[in-house]
Formats: sequence, structure tokens, C-alpha cells
Amino acid sequence: MAESLLITQIGELVTNAPDGSLGGFATIPDAALVIEGGQVAWTGRSARAPAADAVVDAGGRAVLPGFVDSHAHLVFAGERGAEFAARMAGASYAAGGIRSTVTATRAASDVSLRAGLRRLASEMLRQGTTTFECKSGYGLTVRDEARCAALAAEVTPEVTYLGAHVVPAEYEGDQDRYVELVCGPMLDACAPHARWVDVFCERGAFSADEARAVLLAGRARGLIPRVHANQLGPGPGVRVAVEVGAASADHCTFLSAADVDALASSETVATLLPGAEFGTRAPYPDARRLLAAGVVVALATDCNPGSSYTSSMPFCVALAVREMRLSTEEAVWSATAGGACALRRRDVGYVAPGARADLIMLDAPSHAYLAYRPGVPLVRAVWQAGRRISAYGAFPA
Ligand code: NIG
Ligand code: FE
Repeated sequence: MAESLLITQIGELVTNAPDGSLGGFATIPDAALVIEGGQVAWTGRSARAPAADAVVDAGGRAVLPGFVDSHAHLVFAGERGAEFAARMAGASYAAGGIRSTVTATRAASDVSLRAGLRRLASEMLRQGTTTFECKSGYGLTVRDEARCAALAAEVTPEVTYLGAHVVPAEYEGDQDRYVELVCGPMLDACAPHARWVDVFCERGAFSADEARAVLLAGRARGLIPRVHANQLGPGPGVRVAVEVGAASADHCTFLSAADVDALASSETVATLLPGAEFGTRAPYPDARRLLAAGVVVALATDCNPGSSYTSSMPFCVALAVREMRLSTEEAVWSATAGGACALRRRDVGYVAPGARADLIMLDAPSHAYLAYRPGVPLVRAVWQAGRRISAYGAFPA
């Protein structure tokens, strides 16, 4: 590989970082940038670009930071296409559907789980996602959660322990004992592979007290909390997330004024997952209300076989713009810098000297085309830590 690479004649460079910090959305027109040692070394106007060992002419196309997908469930077996079709015909979504994926995942070999995981990770990368989080949560035994977390750790450092996804069938009626398992031996087995701990705090899954117990047990083991909160109805998830200092409260579909206030006066990011509302025909969260209150908003896919089987951040950006009334600038910021905030990462989500060289080139002159031309594969090239990703992705099975 050449030592330095100049990408020049960029029609619009989305930087997100006018002052080198994680600020708001920002762009440089007629831009260029230099990559060196896996990092961004220089950004500015094309006319002032320094020389480099190799040159790519962007031909007026837009370049953006790679997407940061801070919420995904990629380790599973089976699929639930019939459940989706039934929902589109009028059936409602319930947390219990997760159990059918649990049965399939337990029965699957490591080899087939790894193949499915790598297929989805490659799909993400081809669509411009250069950083992603990946949860366990479809094993729900000590052994199966540990192997799901270990597999996730093969493809990302952002692994989340989600033993508290639902109560598995064999613990039906004995929820307390399952929570003890999640806080004890299962946590012991998963913590070495994970950075984060998550819980599905929802009617039909885990109560506020149970969620708190799981998150605090994880925190005592050095994991940082994040929460599935207020997805299916109003509830205590957001408040528990704020109380334990979670990095992120995810979904936030049904929020009270007190929930919005709690988020606004905390460091907890609200991660919106419009693919889940799309896939369950639910109302979209009120993103404008969150932004008006000063809450930091991230966008993520929630890629999973039940509620949101999309790996596409461009699709989520388009949904956020069309259905949640984010501006194109806000949506792109939330899908890049916002995701970085939700994962407490300072090296990704922006383009400025010192950032990891995670970049997307669009077959379009501006970021707005992600929503303006929905469903079109606009991501023409992807660099991850300065390395150009091939069309087939970096995760061969
Ligand atoms: O984020 N809410 C819980 N977990 C997933 C759904 C998982 C499933 O249906 O398999 C979600 O939407
Ligand atoms: Fe989820």
C-alpha cells in the first residue's frame, strides 16, 4: 500500500468537525483529504492539497465519515420472514418472537453462526458501515451466550452482552432465577468478550428492578450499560438507563415528558432505530422533540431477524429524514458522529486530522442523496482505517 493517499476533487466532504472536536454537521466544498498511517492527516480545499504517494480523483462526488451503527444483533440462526409477512397483514409484534430465534441459534454450530455473522458484517461494510456494535442475546444459556459473544468479538471490539433479552422458555415462571443466572455465571462467561451490557426493559421482557440488577452487575464487571428502552410502549427503560449512566437508551419510541427531560439532563444518547418501526409497523419516535430538548440523537439499524432485518444505514438515514423529519444534515450526523457518541468513541464519526480514516465515497454530489435516492446503492467506495474495502467486503466466511 502506498504510504499516503490523496483523495481530491471531492464535491462535498462531510467532516462533522469544524474545530477538530465532535461538533455539529459541517462540510467542506471542493475538498480534498490525505490519509496516512490509517488516519486522516489533512483536510482542506482541493486547490491547496499537498502532494501524496497516490491520488484518487473523486470527480465531484461526496465523501462522508463511515457510518457508525451502534445497535445490531448479528449472531443468530434461522429467519422469521413469515412473522414479518404476518405483521404486514395485521399481526402485532411481541417480544416473544425472539424465542424462535433462540431455538435456532442454540441448535446451530459455531461454523454456521460465524458464516451468518460475517455475511451481515460484510453487507454492512459494503453499505458504508465502518464501525458497528454487535449483541449476544439469542443464546440465553451460559454456553450459548458465551459463544455468541466470542463470535461477535471476532468481527468488532464493540460487543454487547445481552443475556437479558427475554426469559427463555425453560425459565418461564422462574424469572428471578434467570436474572440470577444473567447476573452471575452468564456474566462471568461473557464479560471477557464484551465492552457493553444491555437489557430489554419492556413489558414481556424485564422490569425496571430486573434491568437495574443486570446493568449494575455488568457495570461492576467493567461493562458499560446501554438499554433497550420504551420500544413497545411507555415504561421505565429510559429512566433506568439515565439512572445507571448508560451510554445510550435505544428505541425511545414511547417517551413521556419526564423521559425526555431525563435524557436532556444526562450524558445518555437517544439511539433511534427507524428500521424497527418500519419492520413492525409501529409509530416512529418523535425525534424533533428530542432534538428540541437538546438530547444527542444517534441512528442505528437494530439489524436482527425479528423487528428490523436491515443492515443498511443509508436506509435508516432515508427513513429518519422522511418519517422522523430529521434534516438530511441531522440524519447523517446522527448516523456517524451520533453513533460514535453512543459508543463513546472519539476516533470515528468525523473527518479531521487524527480521526481514523473511515470514509465513504457516494456516487452522488452530496450527502442529501442518501435520502433523495432511497434504496439506490450509492456507496461507491469504502475505506476502513485507510484500507480500501473490496466490493466483497472484509469478512470472508
Ligand atoms: O431491538 N427489542 C428487542 N430486541 C430486538 C428484537 C429482537 C427480535 O425480535 O428478535 C429489537 O427490536
Ligand atoms: Fe435491538
